[in-house]
Amino acid sequence: MTGHLGSAFDRQYGRPHVLAWSAPGRVNLIGEHTDYNDGYVLPFALSHRTTVAVAPALGPQWMVWSEASGETVTFDADDLMPGRVTGWAAYVAGVAWVLRSSGVDIVPADLAITSDVPLGAGLSSSAALECATLGALLDLAGADVTDPSARAAWPALAQRAENDFVGVPCGIMDQSAATLCREGHALFLDCRSLATDHIPFALEPAGLAMLVIDTRAPHRLVTGEYATRRATCEAAARTLGVPALRDVTDLDAALSALSDPVARSRVRHVVTENERVLRTVDLLRAGRVREIGPELTRSHASLRDDYEVTVPELDVAVDAALAAGALGARMTGGGFGGCVIALVEADATAAVTDAVAEAFAVNGFVAPDAFVALPAGGAAPLPPTEAPPPRT
Ligand code: GLA
Repeated sequence: MTGHLGSAFDRQYGRPHVLAWSAPGRVNLIGEHTDYNDGYVLPFALSHRTTVAVAPALGPQWMVWSEASGETVTFDADDLMPGRVTGWAAYVAGVAWVLRSSGVDIVPADLAITSDVPLGAGLSSSAALECATLGALLDLAGADVTDPSARAAWPALAQRAENDFVGVPCGIMDQSAATLCREGHALFLDCRSLATDHIPFALEPAGLAMLVIDTRAPHRLVTGEYATRRATCEAAARTLGVPALRDVTDLDAALSALSDPVARSRVRHVVTENERVLRTVDLLRAGRVREIGPELTRSHASLRDDYEVTVPELDVAVDAALAAGALGARMTGGGFGGCVIALVEADATAAVTDAVAEAFAVNGFVAPDAFVALPAGGAAPLPPTEAPPPRT
């Protein structure tokens, strides 16, 4: 991939890149719509990655080329303001804007982006792009990119780019996964304190596999519905007199204090989902990985019935996977389309995949895609040995 990337950069810009970083897509094992409620999440990184190769620009303009779009977008220092760069390039410009506003001495650069993170599938291709760009631009600026405490601040920087520059009110989970995940582990993140713990998540020794099923359902209403869910949760927390729904300790008391049935459902999801994350972490720590299946399935039911962020394709995929023997299955990510994860016996991946495909055919849905996920590592520079020779 590096050779390909190097030649892509060379071809686009007629000179070699100076350095390159990559960052992964993610699936969330459990802990959905909890991050912006100061709760707990447990994502892991995929082996699918977005790579950003970079070199200082030759003039005053930034140039950003992406293989996926085939486009080159240009902007200059004056455009590093919210609203001035739109579309996919806003994720890159947003990161440059955040870095500049936090005092990093960045200079205009040329960037080439390649990626094998499926786009629009809810696997956080945008966080992968933000975090690979962040690593590349900080590295190019001469920042210490190896210091773990500096690295711990990256997710909030990337999230700010997405919230304030791109205009998507996401939480901090995806950028944390893209930055901090470790191979073979899931990332247990407390979204209030930002404390992290890397939970061993090896499925192969247990004879298990994690299937990711991309329903290919078109994302509809995602940003609007997401913002509405978030606002409902924040309003409920205000009514309950707590800083965030994470602080609800007595669910029954909270439910009887809320008059709006929609708010009650949303609160019930958030509170029970946080409990499911904690139970899942306990089970994984105890090496009882097989037993997390029911937690995943309960999470899906809660997202379907209480949080109301599923669509028929997600529900059919989960039901078909469970009927074909999956130990647990749930939608992953924001919802309204995207992917389902299914915990399956390693020798049952084909049977479960086929069962979901068949159920989709029966329902007249577009055929799904599926792959087996192995927990991978977060943002990293491409090894220097793979980088092109320095310019003379
Ligand atoms: C999207 C957002 C995340 C998180 C999930 C739901 O992926 O980007 O911050 O809120 O939805 O858990």
